[in-house]
Amino acid sequence: MKIFIFDNAHQIGNAVGKLFVDAINEKPDIVLGLATGASPVPTYKYIAKQCAGGKVSLKDVKTYNLDEYVNLPKSDKNSYYSFMHHELFDHTDIKEKNVHFLNGNARDTEKECRKYDEMLEKAGVDIQLLGVGRNGHIGFNEPSICFSKGSFKVKLTQSTINANKKYFDENPMPTEALTMGVGSIMKAKKIVLIAVGNEKADAIAALVHGDVTPVCPVSILQFHHDVEIYLDKAAASLL
Ligand code: GLP
Repeated sequence: MKIFIFDNAHQIGNAVGKLFVDAINEKPDIVLGLATGASPVPTYKYIAKQCAGGKVSLKDVKTYNLDEYVNLPKSDKNSYYSFMHHELFDHTDIKEKNVHFLNGNARDTEKECRKYDEMLEKAGVDIQLLGVGRNGHIGFNEPSICFSKGSFKVKLTQSTINANKKYFDENPMPTEALTMGVGSIMKAKKIVLIAVGNEKADAIAALVHGDVTPVCPVSILQFHHDVEIYLDKAAASLL
C-alpha cells in the first residue's frame, strides 16, 4: 500500500487527476470504477479541465459507478447518476452508452445486482476510485459481520445518513442503496482511495494499522496488491 499525504484537497485532486489522465492516455479504452461524494470532486475537475484543453479524451473510456440510492429518481439532483454527470461526464466527451450505474429504481433489485456483476466481470475494472465513510464503509458496504461479494441492496447506517443528509433539501434521504460488493471492488487491477478531513482519520488509521475485519470494510484493502491512498494531513493525523 502506497500512502501520499498532501496539504489540501486541491493538491490531491491534481495528483489523482493526473494519475487518471495518464492512465487514460496510455489505455484509451480503459475501464474505470468511479465513486461519488465530496472526496473525488477535485479529481473530476482536473480530468474535465484536461479534457476541455484537449489533453485527454474519454471517448472510448468505460465507467462503472460504485453505488446508487434506492427509489430516488435518476433525475433527482442527489442521485449518483446526476452527480456524475454534473461533476464529470457532462464536461467530457465520454459516451452515454459507456457509463454504467446500478439502477436503484429497478423493480427486481436482486436481478439488477446480478446483471451489474456480470457486466463488471466481463468488463474488468482497471482502476477503481474510492472514498471512505467515517465508519470505514466503501461504496455503500457498511460495517458488517462478513464481507460482501457481489452487488446487493443495503440498509444505510445512521452514521452514513447523518453524513449525507445535508445534501437532501427537497426529498428525504433514501435509507437504502444498491452497492458493488467488496469482492467486486477487490477485483479491480488497481485501487486509488482518497480521504480528506479529520472525520476520516479513524477509518484511515484502521485501514493502515488495524486488523482486516468487515467491521471496518475499508480494511480489506490491506489484501490488495496495488493500492494507493491519497490523504490530506487531517485524514492522516492518526497514522
Ligand atoms: C458515500 C458514498 C461513498 C463515499 C462516501 C464518502 O457514502 N457512497 O462512495 O466514499 O460517501 O463521501 P465523502 O467523500 O463525501 O466524504
